[in-house]
Amino acid sequence: LRTQVAIVGAGPSGLLLGALLHKAGVEAVVIEQRSADYVLGRIRAGVLEQVTVDLLDEAGVGERMHAEGLPHDGFEIAFGDRIHHIDLHGLTGKRVMVYGQTEVTRDLMQARAAAGLQTFYESQGVSVHDFDTHRPCVRFTAPDGQPVEVQADFIAGCDGFHGVCRASVPEGAITNFEKVYPFGWLGILADVPPVSHELIYASSEQGFALCSMRSKTRSRYYVQCSLADHADAWSDEAFWAELRRRLPAQVAANLTTGPSIEKSIAPLRSFVAEPLRFGRLFLAGDAGHIVPPTGAKGLNLAATDVGYLARSLTEFYRGSEAGIDSYSERCLRRIWKAERFSWWFTTLMHKLPENGAFGARIQQAELDYLTRSEAAQRALAENYVGLPMEA
Ligand code: FAD
Ligand code: DHB
Repeated sequence: LRTQVAIVGAGPSGLLLGALLHKAGVEAVVIEQRSADYVLGRIRAGVLEQVTVDLLDEAGVGERMHAEGLPHDGFEIAFGDRIHHIDLHGLTGKRVMVYGQTEVTRDLMQARAAAGLQTFYESQGVSVHDFDTHRPCVRFTAPDGQPVEVQADFIAGCDGFHGVCRASVPEGAITNFEKVYPFGWLGILADVPPVSHELIYASSEQGFALCSMRSKTRSRYYVQCSLADHADAWSDEAFWAELRRRLPAQVAANLTTGPSIEKSIAPLRSFVAEPLRFGRLFLAGDAGHIVPPTGAKGLNLAATDVGYLARSLTEFYRGSEAGIDSYSERCLRRIWKAERFSWWFTTLMHKLPENGAFGARIQQAELDYLTRSEAAQRALAENYVGLPMEA
């Protein structure tokens, strides 16, 4: 099988890249190791930056997002019994869109199927080869046991943090930067109305909590937890009780609880691989970098990476290699700023006993400063709504 771009991974970055390339007249196939239902069952991100919304529109998959997504003009920061509103729109002129990663993925999958584009789900033993030549290829075994080889001009490694693409790069050619945090997030999804029409990021004596949502009838809540915790060991009742303890009393009093429909723990990590291009192989999204979820940058970074990559590959087929040559540097400039922001917001909002009493006082001072300084709020808001893509 021969194509222009072989995309490994059918998460948001692989599917969006496929859609953008299709719009630009570049041919691609997508190779995914899981089933479509498995991919759709992973509850992850929920907040889209304007640049991500624009890229989904450009890919022609924005219709349901605009109809069902919830535009948010601001969010709340809570600490102790204080609550402070961050007026994203007033401070930046921009807003964000609450629309789940599962819905983005579903829209992209449907558009791909409707356009008759080829996706190989449940591909076993995926491997990537010869990306130091002009004829790279991807090999795998189809669900019926048939070996398949996809020959391409380029391979796009959109296969997430544990994927095969980054792992196939020779050790000496890549540098990894990593920070692992000594806690995780326990998240639940429940069909109950959100406690507030805005997201609430809460710092408390018991640790961090986040009140988010997927719709006006579906809530997503998180609490900072120990890495030794197991999601199964947390009953719904224990979760709701812990969440209430971490919210200001007036918020906790309004919380509607109900049975969870999903419950899972995610560890927190900051990670960047440099560079993001190795000959004819490009890394995009979680394959190249991870941010801790505080600030909702993961999915948005994946989208802007593939925005750059789609443009670069399109330019290549129009005769210019300038885009593919600058892909890695251009992405990394934006990635590192999102890494800095996610690290800062994580460090500000979580309970960090390892930083001692001094560290706790610094956090309190910074939160107090944030609520009193418009300059500090603007810096937070500017990063939260997302920094612009380079032209
Ligand atoms: P992924 O979504 O990981 O997709 C990669 C795809 O590649 C997967 O479908 C995988 O099955 C496939 N794959 C892997 N290996 C292979 C292989 N060898 N061959 C073929 N296919 C392969 N971000 C936020 O902004 N907010 C959040 O609340 C949030 N919560 C998260 C919770 C968890 C548990 C995780 C893991 C991430 C979370 N993120 C969150 C981050 C966000 O979901 C990711 O940044 C986003 O999914 C990145 O998309 P991606 O397509 O690059 O990678
Ligand atoms: C969600 C996750 C985040 O990390 C965040 O900052 C905001 C919202 C969510 O899953 O809804």
